[in-house]
Amino acid sequence: MRQAGKLTAIILRELRKAAVPGVSTKQLDDIAQMIIKEAGGSAPCVGYGEPPFPAAICTSINEVVVHGIPSDRVILKEGDIITCDVVAELNGYMGDAARTFMIGNVSENKRLLVERTKEAFFKGLEKAQIGNRIGDISNAVQTCAEGYGYGVVRELTGHGIGRKMHQEPDVPNYGKAGRGHRILKGMAFCIEPMITMGQRYVVLGDDGWEVAAADGLPTAHYENTVIITENGPEMTTYEEGLNG
Ligand code: MF3
Ligand code: CO
Repeated sequence: MRQAGKLTAIILRELRKAAVPGVSTKQLDDIAQMIIKEAGGSAPCVGYGEPPFPAAICTSINEVVVHGIPSDRVILKEGDIITCDVVAELNGYMGDAARTFMIGNVSENKRLLVERTKEAFFKGLEKAQIGNRIGDISNAVQTCAEGYGYGVVRELTGHGIGRKMHQEPDVPNYGKAGRGHRILKGMAFCIEPMITMGQRYVVLGDDGWEVAAADGLPTAHYENTVIITENGPEMTTYEEGLNG
C-alpha cells in the first residue's frame, strides 16, 4: 500500500507543476500514464465501469465535482480550479488521491473553497483512530464543511481500498458520530470530501461519467488513501509540502 501510495503521490506532485494555463487535460493524463508505466504499475481507471472510463485520471474543472474525462479539447485557463484524481496500482495494491489545483490567480471564493475542503479532510482524518467509527470521520467532515456554509455531496463517498480501488466500507462525508463500521488496525480506506460552494445537489453528464454541481457553482475535492496503524492514521499518498 505504501509503494502504490508513493507512486500516486509522485503523480500528483508532477500534475501540480504541469497544471498551468494553456495545458489540456489530456496532457495531464499523458503525464500520469507515463509515470505509472515507467514505475511498472498500472492505471486501474482505464476501462473501469460502464461506459468504460477512457483515461488514467479524472480531471474535473470548476463546477465538475468528480469523474471529468481528460480531453485534448479541454484547455486550462487562468482562474480555473481543477481536481486531478489519480488511482495507481503497483505490485497488486492501490493508491487513490485527489487534489484541487488553482490555475494562476483564482477568485478569493474559490481559494477559500479549496483550502477549506482540505481542512475538512484533515478534520475527518483526526477521527481515523482505532476504536472510533466511520461515522466519526463522516460527521467531522460534514461539520467542518457545513460550518462554512458549503454543501456536502452525498451521492458519492470515500471507500475502502486495497487490492481493488473500491472495497468496503463506504466512508460518507456526512453522518452521525458513533455510527457505522468500527475502525480497526490494518484497515485501509480513502477519505475524500467533495464540497460545493453552493447547493449540494449534483447532476450526471451526458458522457455517463461527469458529476457536476446542479447550480453550476464551483466545487472542490481532496482525497488521500489512509491506512490505520497503532500509531494513528497514515496517509500513503501524501507528501508534506510537495503534493499538499
Ligand atoms: N478515484 C475515484 C475515487 O476516488 C474513482 C475513479 S473513477 C474511474 O473513487 F472511473 F476513474 F475509475
Ligand atoms: Co480518487
